[in-house]
Amino acid sequence: KKILVLHGPNLNILGQREPTVYGFETLAEIDERLRKKGEELSCLVESFQSNSEGALIDALQCAMRDGTAGCVFNPGAYTHYSIALRDAVAAVQFPVIEVHLSNIYARESFRSHSVIAPVAKGQISGFGSLGYELALLALHAQ
Ligand code: DQA
Repeated sequence: KKILVLHGPNLNILGQREPTVYGFETLAEIDERLRKKGEELSCLVESFQSNSEGALIDALQCAMRDGTAGCVFNPGAYTHYSIALRDAVAAVQFPVIEVHLSNIYARESFRSHSVIAPVAKGQISGFGSLGYELALLALHAQ
């Protein structure tokens, strides 16, 4: 099974970025852990990060054509307002699980609304980087 892990804006600077909110782990460390976890589950885990909305949409459209079986997606701040990303998630035939490191419902009120959630298979929020592993397990079980 091929699984795409998609990271949105500002997640490339994990480790330096508000570490008390998002943790001290870097994105490279998280991606490597997911790749290894994927190996244990016989899944090919490929990660991609972009700060730009269009590149994230392109990655989802590309995954529609390459046999991807599921996607773990942290859309970052786009979660709260990107209709274009929501439409891309709605368009793909495979399940997409929305992940947030922080609990988006326990922060500023503008973070408690996700335009992605209604078209995602499910959402995991508030468990730090463990959330990505939980999502991977959920996709493996699909
Ligand atoms: C985030 C939560 C978003 O509100 C924020 O804009 C991010 C990260 C999270 O992982 O907790 O960039 O998606």
